[in-house]
Amino acid sequence: MKLQNKRALITGGDQGIGRGIAIRFAEEGADVVISYRSHQDNADETVKEIQALGRKAVAIQGDVSVTSALPKFFADAVAAIGPIDILVNNAGVEKRAEFLQATAEDYDLVLAVNLKGPFFLSQLFARELVSSKRGGKIINISSVHEELPFPNFASYCAAKGGLKMLCRDLAIELAPYGITVNNIAPGAIKTPINANLLDDPAKLNPLLEHIPLGRMGSPEDVAGCAAFLASSDADYVTGATLLVDGGLLFNYHEQ
Ligand SMILES: NC(=O)c1ccc[n+]([C@@H]2O[C@H](COP(=O)([O-])OP(=O)(O)OC[C@H]3O[C@@H](n4cnc5c(N)ncnc54)[C@H](O)[C@@H]3O)[C@@H](O)[C@H]2O)c1
Repeated sequence: MKLQNKRALITGGDQGIGRGIAIRFAEEGADVVISYRSHQDNADETVKEIQALGRKAVAIQGDVSVTSALPKFFADAVAAIGPIDILVNNAGVEKRAEFLQATAEDYDLVLAVNLKGPFFLSQLFARELVSSKRGGKIINISSVHEELPFPNFASYCAAKGGLKMLCRDLAIELAPYGITVNNIAPGAIKTPINANLLDDPAKLNPLLEHIPLGRMGSPEDVAGCAAFLASSDADYVTGATLLVDGGLLFNYHEQ
């Protein structure tokens, strides 16, 4: 087991990719705090599944876009399972809008959830590690859209592009403290965020043609890479973006 007796905090662990990571971490021997924004039923199910694996699991409601609430949120996570070793900034949201129509309200939300939240949660985590003289791992769930333009999702691209540079910067700033920082960039993964796509063969089939491995990814595909980055196998990996996209990024072209 790669993560025996480690403690992980995973934002947005109630469903989708975050849930897959939480369960995989528990299978690897970690105790887990997951956060959720609004789906307590999903969070409770994830917690039960993890507890059935014999690990400690706690769900905490929290909105990562509210920066002022993050210190209490992080303190509650530590109080629930003990000092955190691994932070996974997974919570994310996207808003579709042509650039000419995009609103400040949507921009603020997308940037706050996908970039500002990870920035300040990572700061809280890093401060705690530094003051207790422990190393740790920060993993951001970014996207191929930290590299690849995504017309009609400019705010999402701005946030994920920012997350790419945040990862590279923090990898350098936090290396002296034994803290590694890496991004995972998923391609098209079967989760609720893609519900519209999954239900519409006219959109799904052209996308599949862009994916050399010929299928969408699963939360488990992403979770395997997260388990690697969280483990001591990745102790010398920092500032990296690991693509989990079936080859999509380097094969994509607009029709
Ligand atoms: N599914 C994909 O194809 C794909 C591809 C690339 C990147 N990603 C990224 O993966 C991450 C997880 O996405 P997913 O596909 O599992 O989507 P999802 O919609 O299933 O899950 C999103 C999660 O984020 C949480 N969340 C949303 N807003 C929040 C807020 N304000 N505060 C706290 N939590 C909040 C939700 O509770 C949920 O758990 C996101 O960062 C997303 O950008 C997904």
